[in-house]
Amino acid sequence: MLLIKNGFVADAGSAEPVKSDIFIKDGKITPLKDVPSDLSGISVIDAEGMMVAPGLVDMHVHFRDPGFLHKEDIFTGARAAAAGGVTTAVCMPNTSPVLDSPEMIADLTERVKAADISVLPYGAVTAGQRGEYLTDAAALKAAGAVGLSDDGLPVMSAAVLLAALHKSKEAGLVIISHCEDAVLVRDYAVNDGIVSRKLGIPGRPAIAEDLMVARDAMLAKETGAPIHIAHVSTAGAVDIIRKAKAAGVPITAETCPHYFTLTEDEILLQGAMARVNPPLRTPYDVNAIIDGLMDGTIDAIATDHAPHSAAEKAQPLEKAPSGISGLETSLAVTLTALYHTGKLPLGRIIELMSTRPAGILGLNKGRIGIGDDADLVIFDPNKEWTVNPVAFRSKGHNTPFAGRTLKGKVQHTIRAGKIVYSEEHKHVI
Ligand code: DOR
Ligand code: ZN
Repeated sequence: MLLIKNGFVADAGSAEPVKSDIFIKDGKITPLKDVPSDLSGISVIDAEGMMVAPGLVDMHVHFRDPGFLHKEDIFTGARAAAAGGVTTAVCMPNTSPVLDSPEMIADLTERVKAADISVLPYGAVTAGQRGEYLTDAAALKAAGAVGLSDDGLPVMSAAVLLAALHKSKEAGLVIISHCEDAVLVRDYAVNDGIVSRKLGIPGRPAIAEDLMVARDAMLAKETGAPIHIAHVSTAGAVDIIRKAKAAGVPITAETCPHYFTLTEDEILLQGAMARVNPPLRTPYDVNAIIDGLMDGTIDAIATDHAPHSAAEKAQPLEKAPSGISGLETSLAVTLTALYHTGKLPLGRIIELMSTRPAGILGLNKGRIGIGDDADLVIFDPNKEWTVNPVAFRSKGHNTPFAGRTLKGKVQHTIRAGKIVYSEEHKHVI
C-alpha cells in the first residue's frame, strides 16, 4: 500500500491541478476513505509542491531488442523510461531480426514482464520491413502487438500500404507511419536547406515528408482505417493533418520534443549528435509544430527514443546513425518549452504525453481515477537541473540537450503501485 500526500493531481481533464492525496492498494488507485487509520506498514510519499499525474505513455521508442543490445535492451530502456516518468513504452520493431512474426512478438511480450514498466511491442507492417509482403496483422495482434509500424522506413508502395490498411482495420490495429519518401531522402544526414548548402551536402527535403503525409491521409480516407503519423517535423505536414482532421479523416499524429525546440542550426553546433530522422528543420517549422500542439492538430508527444553507442555517433556526420536518446529529457524539455512559456497548460501536456497516446492505441492507461492502474509520475514542475548524459540510465548517451538547464524534474515514478524510480530516496518515508 502506498499513500501519496499533499500533491497536486494533474490530469488531462482538469484545467488546473487539484490538491489531493492518492491511495494505492493492490496496484490500483483506491478511494481515500479506505486508508487505514494505522499507517504502519504503508509507504508514504510526501508530494508537497509536486504534481501527481498519470504515468507517461510513450508511443514511440526503440529498445533495440533483439539484435542491437549494445545500443539498448528492454531492461535498460525500461529503466530509462522510469527515470523519465514513463510507465508505458511502445517499442518499434526495427530490430534484428525485425519483429514481424507472432512468435517474435510473443517472445518479447514474455520477456518484458520482468521490466520496471509496461513495455508493449509494435509488429512490422511488412515482412523484414522490406515494404513488399504484408505481415499477418491479426496474428501479430493476438500475440501482443498493439499496433503496426515499419518505422525507420516508410512503406513506399501505396499499393502495399492500401492493402495493409484494409488488414489493420479488420484486425483493429492502428498503423504508425514513418513519413519520408525514401527516394527523396536517401541516407542524407540533414534537412535540405541553409545548413545542407553551407556544408555542401545533399539534404532531406521537407517535401519528402509532406508528400507522404498527404498520401497517407488519402489512404486513410479511402479505407476508413486509422493511421497515425510518426514524428511530425514540418509545417507542411501539420497543415495537411489539420485539414484532413477537419474533413473527418481518421488520422492522428505525434511529434517529439526535439522538433518543437531545436532547428537545423544545431547540426552546425553539434554535428552528428543532432542527426535524426526526420531531420531538425527551420524556425518556421518549429513554430508550426507548436501551433499544431496548441490547436489539437498534433495528438501526442513521443520521444522516438533512438539510442546509439558513443562510437557510432562519433563517426562523421554523413556516416553516423540518426537518432536521439530522448526518454530521460522529454518531460523536462516539454515543460520548459511549452508549460513554463505559457503556451500549454499542464493538463494539455499530460493529455499529449499520456492520455491521448493511450487512447490512440486503445490502452487502458493515462487516467488517474478510482480503480485505474496505479501508474503515476510525481514531478516537481519548477526544479531546475542540467542535462548530463553520462548519468543516463539508457545505454544511449546521444542527446543534443547535453548541458542544457531544464525546468521540471521527475521525482518518483510508480508502476502498478510500485516505486520504480526515485530521484531522492529521502522523500520516501
Ligand atoms: O532518427 C531516427 N532513428 N529515426 C528513425 O526513424 C529511426 C531511428 C532509429 O531506429 O535509430
Ligand atoms: Zn522511430
